[in-house]
Amino acid sequence: MSKTIIISNRLPLQIAIENNQLEVTPSVGGLATGLKSFHKDGDSVWIGWSGLTKEEIPEGLLDEVQKKAKKENCVAVNLTQQEIDGFYYGFSNRTIWPLFHYFMEYTESDSNYWESYKKVNQKYADVVLEHYKEGDVIWVHDYQLLLVPKMIREKAPEALIGFFNHIPFPSYEVFRTLPWRDEVLEGVLGADLIGFHTYDYERHFLSSVSRILRHQTDFNEITLPDRIVKVDSFPMGIDYEKFEQAALDHYESTAADQSELQKRLNHHLESTPDAKLILSIDRLDYTKGIAHRIRAFEYFLDNNPEFIEKVRLVMLAVPSRSNVPQYRRLKREIDELVGRINGKFSTVSWTPIWYFYRSMPFENLIDLYTTCGIALLTPIRDGMNLVAKEYIATRTDHTGVLILSEMAGAAHEMNEALIINPNNFDQVAQALKTAFEMPKEEQIERNKMLQKRLRRYSVEKWAQDFMKSLKAMKENRDSFKSIRVSSQISDDIITEFKKAKKRILFIDYDGTLVGFTDKPENAKPDEDLKELIRELNKSEDTDVILISGRDKNTLGTWWKDVPVELISEHGVWMRQIDGDWELAENVKSEWMEVVRPVIENFVDRTPGTFIEEKNYSLAWHYRKADPELGEMRANELSNVLKELISNRGLSVLEGNKVLEVKSSDVNKGKASTKKLMGTNYDFIFAIGDDWTDEYMFQELPDTSYTVKVGIKKTSAKYYVEGTKKVRDLLEKFRDNL
Ligand code: ADP
Ligand code: G6P
Repeated sequence: MSKTIIISNRLPLQIAIENNQLEVTPSVGGLATGLKSFHKDGDSVWIGWSGLTKEEIPEGLLDEVQKKAKKENCVAVNLTQQEIDGFYYGFSNRTIWPLFHYFMEYTESDSNYWESYKKVNQKYADVVLEHYKEGDVIWVHDYQLLLVPKMIREKAPEALIGFFNHIPFPSYEVFRTLPWRDEVLEGVLGADLIGFHTYDYERHFLSSVSRILRHQTDFNEITLPDRIVKVDSFPMGIDYEKFEQAALDHYESTAADQSELQKRLNHHLESTPDAKLILSIDRLDYTKGIAHRIRAFEYFLDNNPEFIEKVRLVMLAVPSRSNVPQYRRLKREIDELVGRINGKFSTVSWTPIWYFYRSMPFENLIDLYTTCGIALLTPIRDGMNLVAKEYIATRTDHTGVLILSEMAGAAHEMNEALIINPNNFDQVAQALKTAFEMPKEEQIERNKMLQKRLRRYSVEKWAQDFMKSLKAMKENRDSFKSIRVSSQISDDIITEFKKAKKRILFIDYDGTLVGFTDKPENAKPDEDLKELIRELNKSEDTDVILISGRDKNTLGTWWKDVPVELISEHGVWMRQIDGDWELAENVKSEWMEVVRPVIENFVDRTPGTFIEEKNYSLAWHYRKADPELGEMRANELSNVLKELISNRGLSVLEGNKVLEVKSSDVNKGKASTKKLMGTNYDFIFAIGDDWTDEYMFQELPDTSYTVKVGIKKTSAKYYVEGTKKVRDLLEKFRDNL
């Protein structure tokens, strides 16, 4: 039976060694806590790191670690101290983490870290491949494993792979500064489906892919030579029922069952009639805005002294990544800040901040969530922030006020919270005041709406939605209309080719025989290609026709010394072998005077674009333009042109990053079928990558072998992935002449 393979840096369980015994505790952090329930309920295996380095595990306990992991359907990846230093503390948390959270000043570019990151990603991919069976679904998680999708795809090309990024994806302007940006994007693009928490992160990713790798993106789909990759946003939810139930159990527990922490919290609340507790929970991370929060609290007390002895900030900071210098520095900063502010405001019976620097058991977390009337979460950047959602889920009487930073992904779905800019102390202080004074009815109204949404879009629903979309990618792949030219199919085509008495091959040029270049004039045929076409044409029984949208001068010059028939400008001109160019269609060109200034206006307004003038057509190229601006202007220009040319017998062709205006009477379909008139070809073959080649695919006889280059919607019967595959196929023709 097929299964789901989950891969993340950390397993949901942390293994530690106490007195030569293995101790298992749950991992913290949004990814592990969120996905745990999906894993628990389904048929899945989870691959990740146990939290112990190879050096830390005594020889005799190595098997034990795997056994403990296996009990939870997990597989532990063994990492050495050196690997953890380079991959985890290095590239993951000194390069990607700060960069993706817009802390450019903390971002290090160390090639040793990068090398280690690649090596460890390969290690994860290898473990996945050991467990992978055909039909399994693979789901890779987070920024530590950005290269894994591609590494799996290289060995298992047909695998169905999803990738989810749990942290923000930065804007192109920030991402582009990464020295290894191409490799990172290519790594992620090994997946079929790429998920983000918010539409903004999705947009940023798509923009980086189209600007850096220059892949074609249509809405949320990226067209690669051999596959389509979908990008979408899926805001991660929580295990709502678990938190709700824990809160209900908490309320039902008797005084005797209460934890020490709960007793202390109660003590504060009972100390004065309108005492309040403000809660803050995070890993101790500079992205969480903990120092900002404390300063804003100080500002609040300075400006609202009436709250002294009434409010207390209960701050839980969970130790995290303490080998990274910024985290150590942050720890010192927070210690000092808490000390200073407690020193400044404390009275005999009251300290304003209770600060815990440790992990806490789940029950204590619930104590905090249920007892604190206000939650103050002020990250400077946060992919999602599950704590915000957990707080709301535990408020079973619907009271409580959540103050949440607009920089957290969760803010997009939690509009009913008090949304603040964490850098604006005045606003944070004002929100605290509003929270204190908010009538119960309003709290209930806001929280009911929040709870309804959180209950519906739980972590289970989130995972189901992602999986559903991922499986749809597979169906999409399977239902792809044209058939990939596999080695079996190419053998079949060759058999027919050999049998035939008279053959004709229509071959498009750009995007088919040669790849695209920034400037059209740089796409000259190489000597091998010329030789191949020459050899194909040697046989009396085989006619080769290069059929292109190019102008006749360029095509004629490039193929001057090769005896091959040429059709240029989509069929306007024709050159027989060794002959001169002849006008094949009687077309007009007066219209150009009207159309040219319109296109020129678009060239002026769209940097990187230019006009190509052919004898009977005008083409506007936008391959070098900013991809988003280019697409937008292409749409605009296409509409303007269509209006301008209506009733003039002209049409606008939308090619690959080019718009072309030409006579409606001319197209490759008409030109190629004209070549067949009065002939007796028993093998007709046409290959091309572009929209303009579709005319050939549609108009040639049904018995023809029509082949599209690249995976796009097409009327062709077959497809090949790219120009390299085109040459392979043509070489096979040559070898079987
Ligand atoms: P991040 O993923 O950046 O750490 P999130 O707020 O998304 O931030 O996720 C934090 C997760 O860790 C939450 O699910 C929360 O319940 C859990 N957590 C936070 N503090 C503790 C703690 N002291 N003990 C156990 N789990 C904790
Ligand atoms: C965030 C990341 C997770 C990570 C977690 C805890 O939630 O998105 O991938 O596991 O923080 O960080 P740590 O470095 O301790 O695994």
